Amino acid sequence: MSYIMESIKKAAEYVQGRLEGREPHVGIVLGSGLGKLADEIKDPLVIPYRDIPGFPVSTAIGHKGNFIVGTLGGKTVIAMQGRIHYYEGYEMNQVVLPIRVMICIGIKTLFVSNAAGGTNLDFKVGDLMIIKDHINLLPNPLIGPNLDELGPRFPDMTRPYAVALIKKAEAIAAEEGIALRKGVYVAVTGPSYETPAEYRYFRNIGADAVGMSTVPEVIVARHAGVPCFGMSVITDVAHATDEDDYVTDGEHIVKMANAAADRMSLIFARLIEEL
Ligand code: HPA
Repeated sequence: MSYIMESIKKAAEYVQGRLEGREPHVGIVLGSGLGKLADEIKDPLVIPYRDIPGFPVSTAIGHKGNFIVGTLGGKTVIAMQGRIHYYEGYEMNQVVLPIRVMICIGIKTLFVSNAAGGTNLDFKVGDLMIIKDHINLLPNPLIGPNLDELGPRFPDMTRPYAVALIKKAEAIAAEEGIALRKGVYVAVTGPSYETPAEYRYFRNIGADAVGMSTVPEVIVARHAGVPCFGMSVITDVAHATDEDDYVTDGEHIVKMANAAADRMSLIFARLIEEL
């Protein structure tokens, strides 16, 4: 067995041992400032990343480092309160290790969330966007010997985000009176935010939002055949001209994400209820 598969199994065995017999069917990744969705999880069991053998620790602002196992929307879920980013200096294998651990303990669906910059000029700060597709400008996490136990060498990526879940989310949002955008998310390394020319470039290649996460997680989930649903909170927006007196600031982004967390939590919880 490859050392990567061994590290996944070792971490998964440890987490399994701490589940007290619970069987999470849904995995959730909570992005910047969205960690408070974890407060909605009933009967929570907390497993700090630092306890898990070989686990990376999240160092990003607005990110704690725990798995939270409990009930949301009437289902047993495992949530990542804090994710690992490539810009933190971890190898891609480590960035996606927590996702593969959740897959090994049996999740059937993956929900991902993030804070993102709006490249679509119609987008406003605080908007929620369903991710309908992505563009990956990060190294592909499947590079290297294929983990045959998890999935095929050349996995299909024609439906990275489950169409049925997107439809359900739109129906739920309409019922709840929550406005939703739908668009393409482009993943970049960061950690510097985009220049005006880069925002323009991403808009021109077909992206509606830009961020530094999520896509590697979705790629390994799809590799393993796990359906995904993703949402971005638009925390800052590209400006049409370079002359505006404007900066992109991490603390502001976490605040804006926090402000949208309730709306996103509601959609996630109701979608999970309907799974
Ligand atoms: N760019 C990249 N990542 C981000 C942004 C952004 O504007 N906002 C939140 N995450």
